[in-house]
Amino acid sequence: MLRLIVLIAFLATVALCHNRRCHCRPYEPCWPSDSRWQALNNSIHGNLVAVRPVGYECHDPAFDKTACEEVTAMGRNSTWRAAHPGALQWQNWEALPAANQTCYLESHRPLPCGQGRISLYSAMVESPEHIQNVVRFARRHNVRLVIKNSGHDFSGRSSTPQSLQISTNKMKTITFFDNFMARNTHGAPVSYGSAVKIGAGVLLKDLYAAVGAKGLAVVGGLSHTVGIAGGYIQGGGHSFLGTWKGMASDNALEFELITASGDLLTVNEYQHSDLFWALRGGGGGTFGVVASVTVRTFSDVPVERASLLFQISTENGTSFWNAIREIHSHLPSLNDAGGAGYYNIVPNSPQTNGTSVSSFDMVLHFLNRTDQEVVRHLFTPLVLSLRKYVGDGVFLAVDSYSQTRELFEEYLHNGSDTTGGFIILGSRMISRDFLAREQGPSRLSMALSKLRQEPGDLIRGHVVAGGRVAHNITYTALNPAWRKTVTHISIGHGWNANATLADQKAIQANITNRELPILKSLEPGKMGAYLNEADANEVDFQTSFWGENYDRLYEVKQKWDADGLFITRLGVGSEDWDEEGFCRIG
Ligand SMILES: Cc1cc2nc3c(=O)[nH]c(=O)nc-3n(C[C@H](O)[C@H](O)[C@H](O)COP(=O)(O)OP(=O)(O)OC[C@H]3O[C@@H](n4cnc5c(N)ncnc54)[C@H](O)[C@@H]3O)c2cc1C
Ligand SMILES: *[C@@H]1O[C@H](CO)[C@@H](O)[C@H](O)[C@H]1NC(C)=O
Ligand SMILES: *[C@@H]1O[C@H](CO)[C@@H](O)[C@H](O)[C@H]1NC(C)=O
Ligand SMILES: *[C@@H]1O[C@H](CO)[C@@H](O)[C@H](O)[C@H]1NC(C)=O
Ligand SMILES: *[C@@H]1O[C@H](CO)[C@@H](O)[C@H](O)[C@H]1NC(C)=O
Ligand SMILES: *[C@@H]1O[C@H](CO)[C@@H](O)[C@H](O)[C@H]1NC(C)=O
Ligand SMILES: *[C@@H]1O[C@H](CO)[C@@H](O)[C@H](O)[C@H]1NC(C)=O
Ligand SMILES: *[C@@H]1O[C@H](CO)[C@@H](O)[C@H](O)[C@H]1NC(C)=O
Ligand SMILES: *[C@@H]1O[C@H](CO)[C@@H](O)[C@H](O)[C@H]1NC(C)=O
Ligand SMILES: *[C@@H]1O[C@H](CO)[C@@H](O)[C@H](O)[C@H]1NC(C)=O
Ligand SMILES: *[C@@H]1O[C@H](CO)[C@@H](O)[C@H](O)[C@H]1NC(C)=O
Repeated sequence: MLRLIVLIAFLATVALCHNRRCHCRPYEPCWPSDSRWQALNNSIHGNLVAVRPVGYECHDPAFDKTACEEVTAMGRNSTWRAAHPGALQWQNWEALPAANQTCYLESHRPLPCGQGRISLYSAMVESPEHIQNVVRFARRHNVRLVIKNSGHDFSGRSSTPQSLQISTNKMKTITFFDNFMARNTHGAPVSYGSAVKIGAGVLLKDLYAAVGAKGLAVVGGLSHTVGIAGGYIQGGGHSFLGTWKGMASDNALEFELITASGDLLTVNEYQHSDLFWALRGGGGGTFGVVASVTVRTFSDVPVERASLLFQISTENGTSFWNAIREIHSHLPSLNDAGGAGYYNIVPNSPQTNGTSVSSFDMVLHFLNRTDQEVVRHLFTPLVLSLRKYVGDGVFLAVDSYSQTRELFEEYLHNGSDTTGGFIILGSRMISRDFLAREQGPSRLSMALSKLRQEPGDLIRGHVVAGGRVAHNITYTALNPAWRKTVTHISIGHGWNANATLADQKAIQANITNRELPILKSLEPGKMGAYLNEADANEVDFQTSFWGENYDRLYEVKQKWDADGLFITRLGVGSEDWDEEGFCRIG
């Protein structure tokens, strides 16, 4: 009898512990009743919605031809995906293929629609007060919470199964300051000059339009629909304006933050400076919900833009990779001269006549300059050395722009980014020191030539550091590797809706186990990856994404969110939780 009582007591303890260690699931008694959800809805002015995946009406039994055609027509529209609580930008993060829960727009009608990683409810908040009410509700009821802004995250951080979503998409306020005044700990004003306060749901395209109309410039990314106040700036935020003015996060002056306790804090250099440090590089979805960020603005300036391209027959592989070596040996000096931008290496583009070409294209921007001939001259040594390998087919143009605004208009003239596919990335930052070394450029070129070269595969280089990123270091949680970087190199592989789980796993495993080790071996134990454009299964992500800053980030996380209300995949503190952040482990 006694043994039975002891056993029952033991089992009860296990059950209790288990409950406390996991978030509440919909079928459990702890799940909020309908009237409680209704009360939450009332507290946020009726902005709570029950969510289905966007493909719901494309599958039986809910199939509806007209509705399905309507969503399918929008399926590649990133503005629509940002606003829709049942969508992410990449369909792989909407689904749980291993649990047979998919609801792809393209998959067969008889295949049932699974909820996958789409939240059950979305709070489409309109104010900091709404966010406070949702956070307090999630905390009280132990409901798994997730924050979605644009839903662009490449590692699935903005969706998670059986959760309540905070969608920031409706928070679109943009406010300009001629002279932004932050308050210090004593309430005294500190002046920072011209700045803009950006609501959590503002997308880059709308920000550039507002800033450009005022004759101003701001450090932001190259996308229509990435949201600046969310994962972008909290992850660091790179830009072709970065070499000129620093990372986006270096230019953040103040955040409004709702913490796990539901408090609304002003976070700046003086107030809650530990959070101010962590929010600039520590990653989105981890320290609380950002309601707004205030960043520096600059007078808009003229730009010289150099475009360089060449292509040769894929058969001439040696010549192509020699040319890629030349590019990388000239990159440090071009970046030192202020050049910032992007390049694409496409080793294998099949042509209609059955042949294949290998091509390279690059744009580098020189901010606040009008000396076109001087900029052209910077490229002369590179062009001469490229001719040795690719003949006369090297194209170089230098174009003058009177403002960055014109560049953004050119780059973002389409309505929105094209998204909606299935994609996984891998990336690595390469240091200036490495490329300045005798064998550096040839070792890099050799490594790149060993990456996958299926038709259309593309290697992208981002020349977005150096300059102010390297020389005017702000004390933030940003991966210290950024300060030494000359190029951040990324690869991406996709698949189709009909790919089997085994196919998907093979593509992902190739990046993690075959391709990334090739890049990592260049600077073993050094440098790292950009957390916003990295492998979703990054090995030892803490070191890759934050290097020596990780321990302090973990402390800040424990101080402000010990219970783990804000856990994302590959986020600070996520190692204490299972894959989806649902149950504590260990
Ligand atoms: C087309 C495209 C272009 C890109 N270009 C660039 C570029 O030029 N430079 C660059 O640095 N990166 C770029 N990126 C990467 C981009 O920074 C990441 O995708 C980033 O995660 C997007 O942040 P988001 O808030 O828009 O997305 P989401 O997926 O909505 O959010 C990302 C993460 O931030 C969290 N989060 C969102 N909002 C908040 C909030 N208000 N408070 C707290 N946490 C929040 C989410 O929970 C999630 O963890 C690009 C991506 C794409 C798809
Ligand atoms: C929340 O309230 C609004 C307005 O009353 C209503 O339209 C909506 O359906 C409610 N949401 C839920 C999940 O009940
Ligand atoms: C994309 O979606 C947005 C928001 O729903 C809409 O305003 C826009 O017209 C759409 N663009 C296209 C090309 O359909
Ligand atoms: C997934 O669901 C489909 C459709 O119901 C079914 O045919 C298939 O057997 C399921 N697969 C697994 C692994 O459960
Ligand atoms: C652009 O360069 C001029 C001249 O060097 C300088 O005075 C000005 O401050 C620069 N503009 C910005 C926004 O940095
Ligand atoms: C490619 O290689 C062939 C054979 O070596 C050579 O004849 C040809 O000139 C090369 N083409 C270029 C563009 O380098
Ligand atoms: C094939 O087409 C490319 C351009 O698309 C051309 O440069 C090349 O000479 C063609 N090759 C043959 C063998 O016709
Ligand atoms: C713009 O849209 C067109 C047509 O949809 C597409 O072909 C093109 O690649 C897009 N350009 C950019 C820069 O996205
Ligand atoms: C940035 O660093 C350079 C070189 O160290 C220095 O000359 C310059 O004054 C710094 N600028 C700012 C704004 O700190
Ligand atoms: C999968 O889908 C792609 C594109 O929709 C199609 O080209 C391919 O033939 C399909 N494969 C199978 C096995 O159905
Ligand atoms: C994985 O990489 C190997 C070697 O490059 C390649 O042969 C194979 O096709 C790749 N598999 C996938 C699924 O990408």
